[in-house]
Amino acid sequence: MKYLLSKGNLSREEIIFLLNIDDPMELGHLFKRANEVRKFFCGNDVHLRGIIEFSNHCDQRCQYCGLRCPNNELERYRMSNDEIIETAQFIYSSGIKTIVLQSGEDSFYTTDDIEEIIISIKKDLDVAITLSIGEREFFEYDRWKRAGADRYLLKHETANPKLYASYHQNQNLQDRLNHLEYLKSIGFQTGGGNIVGLPGQSIEDIADDILLLKEFNVDMASISPFIPSANTPYGNKPPCDIDLLLKTMAIARLVLKNSHIPSTTALSTLVHDGRERGLQAGANVIMPNFTPQPYKERYIIYENKARADSDPIENVRAITNLINSVGRTVGNSKGHSLKSISNLI
Ligand code: 5AD
Repeated sequence: MKYLLSKGNLSREEIIFLLNIDDPMELGHLFKRANEVRKFFCGNDVHLRGIIEFSNHCDQRCQYCGLRCPNNELERYRMSNDEIIETAQFIYSSGIKTIVLQSGEDSFYTTDDIEEIIISIKKDLDVAITLSIGEREFFEYDRWKRAGADRYLLKHETANPKLYASYHQNQNLQDRLNHLEYLKSIGFQTGGGNIVGLPGQSIEDIADDILLLKEFNVDMASISPFIPSANTPYGNKPPCDIDLLLKTMAIARLVLKNSHIPSTTALSTLVHDGRERGLQAGANVIMPNFTPQPYKERYIIYENKARADSDPIENVRAITNLINSVGRTVGNSKGHSLKSISNLI
């Protein structure tokens, strides 16, 4: 096992072997090695990305997600363009230099709307913009890239095409991968990612998720735990095991080397010290939530006690303390991709 941890490239079998580790001492070695690899390739900075969840409407019906359109229990909202832009200004004034615009797949916002929001933010603020708004038409990606968006986050969710089809009635894995490929080809820094612990998922499937992230050479990999969500078909399924999630993050770090990996809010929902543990198992990004009330409490992808907490500035302060408490520093740059700088200039 020690030998595997120092290997440059891991095969599918070796990844599966590492995912199956359950001895606490061996787990400790894996996390320690992921932490070293993170330090070597990414340094000690933790990059903050300010998230605005600007709409919880969604045209999709993903079996696991609380935003799915058949969920009539959810009180829906949409922020206006002006509200979104004001929130971006607030994020910038707090010292954060990446704005993540996230929503359900909401076709209410037109190509022009999103373009206008990007242009207004970029005109006034020296920030990077990440879009996380699901699958759209290719020409829209072109328009938004030209308008100044820097990054696009589109998780593949699961690399198993059969599972993908069973979770997403209207979508298929190949389409999703074509979108990711296209986003990369037009110069977006691209984020992929998967959900760990979904019903019916095997260890082999998770190994394939890591390999798919490697194949796409993603600039960012968002690896989050499945958390059952009320009013969805999977509301009574068990949540992801914390060690399985941390193992997946750590192995992803060994394999992906210099991709950004966030320690997600979902992780801190799963266990109270989840974020710290993620930072010590390979992660180098945290995404503080700036969605204003009363919207924030309605963005219920899954039940999230951690989000009840109040003021975003207080939250950033707490996250800064947490980062410092594990011997790390808060990045003060935009925290661009570490893969290639050629398309950033
Ligand atoms: N648990 C964890 N992550 C989830 N997502 C959706 N539902 C869940 C859940 N129950 C993630 C998916 C999706 C994003 C909107 O949230 O990865 O891309």
